[in-house]
Amino acid sequence: MIYLVTGGAGFIGANFIHYMFNKFHDEIQIINVDKLTYAANLPNLESISSALIEKSCYIFEQIDICDSENIERIFRTYKPDYVINFAAETHVDRSIISPQVFLKTNVLGTQVLLDASLKYGVRRFHQISTDEVYGSIEEGYFTEQTPLNPRSPYSASKASADLLCQAYYSTYQLPITISRCSNNYGPYQYVEKLIPLVITRLLRKESIPVYGDGLNVRDWLHVRDHCDAIEKIIHRGKDGEVYNIGGNNEWKNIDLIYFLIKKIKSVLAKSTQEEYIYNKLITYVEDRKGHDRRYAIDVSKIKEELHWEAKVFFEEGIQETVTWYLQKEK
Ligand SMILES: NC(=O)c1ccc[n+]([C@@H]2O[C@H](COP(=O)([O-])OP(=O)(O)OC[C@H]3O[C@@H](n4cnc5c(N)ncnc54)[C@H](O)[C@@H]3O)[C@@H](O)[C@H]2O)c1
Repeated sequence: MIYLVTGGAGFIGANFIHYMFNKFHDEIQIINVDKLTYAANLPNLESISSALIEKSCYIFEQIDICDSENIERIFRTYKPDYVINFAAETHVDRSIISPQVFLKTNVLGTQVLLDASLKYGVRRFHQISTDEVYGSIEEGYFTEQTPLNPRSPYSASKASADLLCQAYYSTYQLPITISRCSNNYGPYQYVEKLIPLVITRLLRKESIPVYGDGLNVRDWLHVRDHCDAIEKIIHRGKDGEVYNIGGNNEWKNIDLIYFLIKKIKSVLAKSTQEEYIYNKLITYVEDRKGHDRRYAIDVSKIKEELHWEAKVFFEEGIQETVTWYLQKEK
């Protein structure tokens, strides 16, 4: 089977490539198409074995998904069975400052991939989406039926891409699936996102900016559990369907930061005095514009239909993540 993975040099894409090779070894071929924006980090993929590279099981192509000529060449050359679209501009704060690149990559780039998938007849086009397309929810949980209500340029671009995928399914019967996942954590994430930002700043004893009152709530899922869910959807999900993915693991931002301080303290074997110094690094800053208060996701559909559930305990996943960033800082 041939898998075209876009955005494979980013956080989740790189984890997914490792996940697939760990599971299927040299029985698969993965073509990683990535433009290599600031968020990409090719060394994340250096541990792919030379044996896999020699057998051409892993191929990297530096291409922008908006570049239709080169994308068409990729489809013509490799004839992928599966397309998994991770490539995106992903940082909400950046989307508030400059929305245009978000619309280009996240919407037009997705359309280029959908067109090529249609022309070359793929088995499955899988769109990696986000729970942010549902907007903010004070109580209860988002289900796959919750109306889309994106509130940032980032989530609006992701929601637009989801609608395009569904339109290609209805209009052309392109076999698409969509997954909407909550916040991921784990190795290989670019440091601008909350968990790696807090960990690296704590390690460097730099101030930790906290938006607003710090009481915004997010659900956290280990990236390996996300990859496991994606693998189940692409191989066993139903055409045209949306699947929510989440960790049932809600944290207020400020509580998460205190939890990370405790973890860092235990990993570095620091004294209580040191914990007090870390706490003093917390700095409340002006809230993000239009900051969504809470995301919470109902995962019953993927549990019942595909027998997926999150397996990584948060304590262990965070311990592993702190240790990973600590090694990186050395
Ligand atoms: N990180 C999360 O918590 C989270 C949660 C839910 C959904 N998602 C979605 O998962 C996907 C991956 O997220 P991530 O956190 O790994 O992102 P990331 O920012 O770490 O990586 C994105 C990758 O896409 C590449 N890319 C960007 N524009 C491109 C273009 N025009 N052409 C080709 N490649 C391009 C970048 O170079 C980078 O390697 C995104 O679609 C995102 O919306 C992320």
